[in-house]
Amino acid sequence: MDHASAQSLLQTHGQLHLLKYWADLSAPQQEELLADIQQTDWVVIADQARKSPTGESPLNAARFSEPPVCTCSTENEPASLYAEELKIGEDLLRAGKVAALTVAGGQGTRLGFSGPKGTFPISPVKNKTLFALFAEYLAAINYRYGCSLRWYIMTSPENHHDTRTFFEQHHYFGLQRERVCFFQQGTLPALDMHGRVLMAERHRLAMSPDGHGGTLRALRAAGGLEQLHQENVEYLSYFQIDNPMLQLIDPIFIGLVARRQSEFGSKVMRKAHDFERVGVFVKNNDHITVIEYSDLPAHLATERKSTGERLFDFANVAAHVFTVSFAQRLSEHADPSGLPWHRAVKKIPYWDIEQNRKVFPPQPNAIKLEQFIFDAIPLAKNPLLFEIRREEEFAPVKNAEGIDSPATAKAFMIGKWRRWLAQAGKTLPEIQRVEISPIFALDPQELQRKLDHQEIDLTKPIYLGP
Ligand code: UD1
Repeated sequence: MDHASAQSLLQTHGQLHLLKYWADLSAPQQEELLADIQQTDWVVIADQARKSPTGESPLNAARFSEPPVCTCSTENEPASLYAEELKIGEDLLRAGKVAALTVAGGQGTRLGFSGPKGTFPISPVKNKTLFALFAEYLAAINYRYGCSLRWYIMTSPENHHDTRTFFEQHHYFGLQRERVCFFQQGTLPALDMHGRVLMAERHRLAMSPDGHGGTLRALRAAGGLEQLHQENVEYLSYFQIDNPMLQLIDPIFIGLVARRQSEFGSKVMRKAHDFERVGVFVKNNDHITVIEYSDLPAHLATERKSTGERLFDFANVAAHVFTVSFAQRLSEHADPSGLPWHRAVKKIPYWDIEQNRKVFPPQPNAIKLEQFIFDAIPLAKNPLLFEIRREEEFAPVKNAEGIDSPATAKAFMIGKWRRWLAQAGKTLPEIQRVEISPIFALDPQELQRKLDHQEIDLTKPIYLGP
């Protein structure tokens, strides 16, 4: 792209202000500005710029109802409820039909941590990072099922280099280097409240990651979907960077998706309270969808059944299993992947074109555009929801303090491992910290077997692992 073509493109879209300082820029800065303009999807921007600042509500007059869920029970272990599915899932793992996919492109603003979120130390005894814990989980699965899962990690332009360097420095945590594949997600510029594209500097647009809804588009562009197809991988197990307690690769869940011939399965859990900041699953006509917490009206959040239970109680754990063929279909068709754009009003620093200076706004001033992966669910055949026990799998690290913080995540992890030890007949003193690596035990049964042959000192913080 050269200046003339940028000018004509921007003129068409009413965004010519982006070139106001062109003559003052150095040649490399001009290159950077042209690159930003070139990589922007102007069809999306033009469409969004026409909308009112907060857009139309994604909730139309539809009548929502409760979606069907494959439930779990507190009395029975999932393995006994879903024995057939477990076997199918384990066979798929042994046959190398599964890969892992982590979305780690977010900016982690709420946590207030400057590096990639995956490099955040979180485990309660050894202070292992989120990436280290996930790598150990995958290593344990590889060992148990004699496979070597590919692990795709989506980064953003902002954290890509640091993420890769972190893995290099830690020798890929013992995983095979060539099985860990990084790819970068797309970005889009933010808009001001009048639909004008914001600049971050005189030579840069105010770019932000375009949401995890762009994952499949980015994975395809990086050649990942083709690679999976070539290697006959059939299922992708998708998870966020922020939940160190998740069973990342869950054979029952994978088996369930396979047995029901579902193209997209999602883990769900019961909400902790009406206004918990989690998306909820609903049925909208015939489609299962997620209403994100920021869009959920209070009357739906608090609605009750005649039994007094919450009507919309199944929350999005943000862990999905989908088929590679669905991912291919979704990423090939429609532009860009046919998912809706969500508009969030945020505080975004920008270059004030009129006053020729950087501004750090005290109030939200801009619209950030994002797509969400779960908006693909209505496009999938036989989507299914699988209930998990939140005390076993949900300990998100989102905020620096308070709810969903490192402190709560550590407490949940300790609580879970304490229960596992109790099941194995070891009761810990109340104050004792404990950490069990997945490499030592992936589940309470494995822990029990190992502890039948091993004494542990319950008077010190306990670490069981490599
Ligand atoms: C998310 C879900 C919510 C769910 C909750 C469970 C969304 C929009 N909402 O909320 O329904 O109940 O988790 O914990 O996902 N990411 C990228 N690129 C981006 C944006 C995000 O990779 O452009 C990644 C982040 O690194 C993170 C994940 O997506 O791993 C979630 O991001 P975030 O937007 O913070 O969602 P939550 O508010 O945590």
